Amino acid sequence: MKGIILAAGAGTRLYPASQPISKILLPVYDKPMLYYPLSTLMLAGIKDVLIITNEADNDNFEKLLGDGSQIGMNIQYKIQYIQRGIADALLLGEEFIDGDDVALILGDNIFHGFGFSTLMKQALENNDGATVFGYRVKDPERFGVVEFDKDKKVLSLEEKPLSPRSNYAVTGLYFYDKNVCEYAKMLKPSARGELEITDLNKIYLQKNKLKVEILGRGFAWLDTGTQDAMLEASYFVSAIEKNKGEQIACIEEIALNKGFIDADKLRQNLSRFKGKSAYYDYVFSIIESALLAITSGRN
Ligand code: G1P
Repeated sequence: MKGIILAAGAGTRLYPASQPISKILLPVYDKPMLYYPLSTLMLAGIKDVLIITNEADNDNFEKLLGDGSQIGMNIQYKIQYIQRGIADALLLGEEFIDGDDVALILGDNIFHGFGFSTLMKQALENNDGATVFGYRVKDPERFGVVEFDKDKKVLSLEEKPLSPRSNYAVTGLYFYDKNVCEYAKMLKPSARGELEITDLNKIYLQKNKLKVEILGRGFAWLDTGTQDAMLEASYFVSAIEKNKGEQIACIEEIALNKGFIDADKLRQNLSRFKGKSAYYDYVFSIIESALLAITSGRN
């Protein structure tokens, strides 16, 4: 299973904040926004990730995460020169996907909730075609909207409908089988000149191969499209982190828990960050406890 993060948007709605640097690299509380979608893919067990960026920001993304080996991952980058829509990410990623299954996530989508890893794991195991995630919202007309029956079979999909048939938005996380590149090639640009992800999902729907997983009340799905939404997302993350003394979307912690890398190696790789910030203090405390657990296990 491969993962793709689409982080190529210009983020014009946040200008001037996102003028010098991609919106996806701006902080949501204590870490770059990119860490949130990346951690979602990691929680789904994905180690091979392609980040699609715009031309101006590619180097900044690489500066942040390099080739990913410091956390036991394989991270690659690709530039989207022309913004041709979300589904274009799958065409750009065809070589990287290399006939595998793929999870696509939008760079500004933040997911948080108990049992999310399990839900994704089950969705992946049962993914016969494509799986999307539905989230109840009060303004469905702003999103792709999914209508489904009691067996979670999708009945209809519409992109930003004027009269939505349900209150369930399709979130920016999509699981696809190996046919996805072939289907993406069949798409034609929409009225707004984009290869729409909803049109791609409709191909799966026509083939009776589209499932929806519902993210229930215990889940947060945060959109970070506006200044207010960014601020609210920061408050949300800060409230949870302070309350629990645990980080959300700490990629080093997830890499360790998922066994992408061992504690000793991680400590070596991150040594230059020790004592640098509250974030890295947390990372090192996690590494030290992991090392302690190993030593006491040996005794
Ligand atoms: C895009 C998709 C839409 C989806 C949304 C989720 O919307 O087209 O179907 O519900 O992402 O964030 P856009 O960001 O292009 O408005």
